[in-house]
Amino acid sequence: MSANRRQYTAEFKAKVVLQMLMGEKTSAEICRSHKLHSSVLNRWRKEFLDHATTIFEADSGHEADQQRIAELERLVGQLTMKLEIAKKASQSFNQLAQRGHNAIFADALEYDFGLLDRMYKEHEPGQVPVKMEELAEHIRSADGFVVVTGEYNHSVQPGLSNLMDHFLEEYYFRPAGIVSYSVGGFGGVRAAVHLRVMLGEMGMPTISSMFAISKITEAIDADGKAQDESLIKRLGSFLDELEWYEEALKRQRDEKGRPF
Ligand SMILES: Cc1cc2nc3c(=O)[nH]c(=O)nc-3n(C[C@H](O)[C@H](O)[C@H](O)COP(=O)(O)O)c2cc1C
Repeated sequence: MSANRRQYTAEFKAKVVLQMLMGEKTSAEICRSHKLHSSVLNRWRKEFLDHATTIFEADSGHEADQQRIAELERLVGQLTMKLEIAKKASQSFNQLAQRGHNAIFADALEYDFGLLDRMYKEHEPGQVPVKMEELAEHIRSADGFVVVTGEYNHSVQPGLSNLMDHFLEEYYFRPAGIVSYSVGGFGGVRAAVHLRVMLGEMGMPTISSMFAISKITEAIDADGKAQDESLIKRLGSFLDELEWYEEALKRQRDEKGRPF
């Protein structure tokens, strides 16, 4: 004949062990009121305490999962943003590629070094952040630059200015063409004029033409396609001029080197 053993739920075990641990009842009282043997209650108590840490382990696992999810969400957001930017820039890139250029697109959102603290050249050798070194190499290897600015308070976008300020000698003796845009009708020309002064100080002679795009939201669609043929023609002559200066300055650098 088998003994008829009583079954206790996990909830019941946890409740009586907590009553004992919190001093609400003595172990004798609990055993008496539930007709338990003290060895059973002690075994439950031991099991409870042995497994207490796993509650927090599970928590930290959950926390790590949450952090990972947040990180992945951030990455997806970043990639979506990069895709949008790349789409917007795609048409100008097509023109540059058709002309045989290897154009590298450097966006202040991608190369986010934070507010300028130390310029590229002020970092100890071997201590330069990877993305900063990557951008420095792109700048050094370029024959020319197309610098694109929106207009903030009639001046250059602060994000662009902050990004460019990280470098100096890396730009020297290579020409730049200025592209500006605005939602309104002025095409960001006031920012473009300020940008010309900045680029001059940074060692980039700027070409005479400025490529201003007004009413940007109507001029270019969400896929970066120009809505007006004249914009593409204007871009063509702007790039003709920039290439002319690139070739001229490259020849001079190759033949005579740089004055400083
Ligand atoms: C602080 C601030 C100042 C602005 N100043 C101007 C301005 O002077 N002229 C203008 O045409 N648009 C101005 N705008 C509008 C921006 O040019 C517009 O939001 C544009 O979309 C910014 O380009 P982005 O979204 O690529 O940064 C300003 C916007 C902000 C937030």
